[in-house]
Amino acid sequence: MAKLRHSRLQAKKLSTVTLVLSMLFMLTVVLLMLLGLGIFSLPINSDDSPPTDLTSYRRMASERGKGLGKRGQQWTEVLSWEPRAYIYHNFLSKEECEYLINLAKPHMAKSTVVDSKTGKSKDSRVRTSSGMFLRRGQDKIIRDIEKRIADYTFIPVEHGEGLQVLHYEVEQKYDAHFDYFLDEFNTKNGGQRMATVLMYLSDVEEGGETIFPAAKGNVSAVPWWNELSECGKQGLAVKPKMGDALLFWSMRPDATLDPSSLHGGIQGLSCYIEDAVLRNCD
Ligand SMILES: *[C@@H]1O[C@H](CO)[C@@H](O)[C@H](O)[C@H]1NC(C)=O
Repeated sequence: MAKLRHSRLQAKKLSTVTLVLSMLFMLTVVLLMLLGLGIFSLPINSDDSPPTDLTSYRRMASERGKGLGKRGQQWTEVLSWEPRAYIYHNFLSKEECEYLINLAKPHMAKSTVVDSKTGKSKDSRVRTSSGMFLRRGQDKIIRDIEKRIADYTFIPVEHGEGLQVLHYEVEQKYDAHFDYFLDEFNTKNGGQRMATVLMYLSDVEEGGETIFPAAKGNVSAVPWWNELSECGKQGLAVKPKMGDALLFWSMRPDATLDPSSLHGGIQGLSCYIEDAVLRNCD
């Protein structure tokens, strides 16, 4: 009797297991059918979404709703370790980019460079763009952006300079240079520049890359290699995209100057990176 009950129980257990298994099987079939019919799709990367490997960090949290306009999906990507350079996608919204452009437009003046002997601003053939400085914390929208930069870099807002809006026409450029100061005047008055955040305010048809000609590593391994201009291909290059931000450090973690942070701006089809570093390619 006991034996019979035992085997009956076993049979019952078995049929439950069979039932669960067949239900799972049915579910799989239904899911496969739905996938096949395209009613439902797995999240597969399209062009404008973050890669899934470990070189990128994707922010899954939803929008915090700070700042002007709505920002697209945000994710960060390591561009290089020498120099330390990172791209933050959709750092600014389209509205913020337009706001900055409109704010600066009436006040654009020819850009200057810092004189390495006196530390004063001077006109230069090295830099042919125009630009203007915004005051730090000048309005709510600027304060939001400055806070965002501070959060991203872990450098307090008070350590930052005012934002500078730059405009490059076709054929205008900024030869390869360092952002750290080489003069005593600036390093004594305010200290050395540690890092730069470059934000792209508009899309360009061609060129306009920021290039690091002294970057270590395989520069042709960037996913956008085929879209780069001939000049862009002569170093590690970043293609400008509206709203994206490029963070790079001019100093190493031990606070020594990092010469691999040499960088320049390219416009149009011509190449202007300094002769000493690269050959002209036009
Ligand atoms: C650099 O990267 C590209 C693209 O991934 C690859 O084809 C090429 O072989 C690499 N070059 C070297 C020297 O590793």
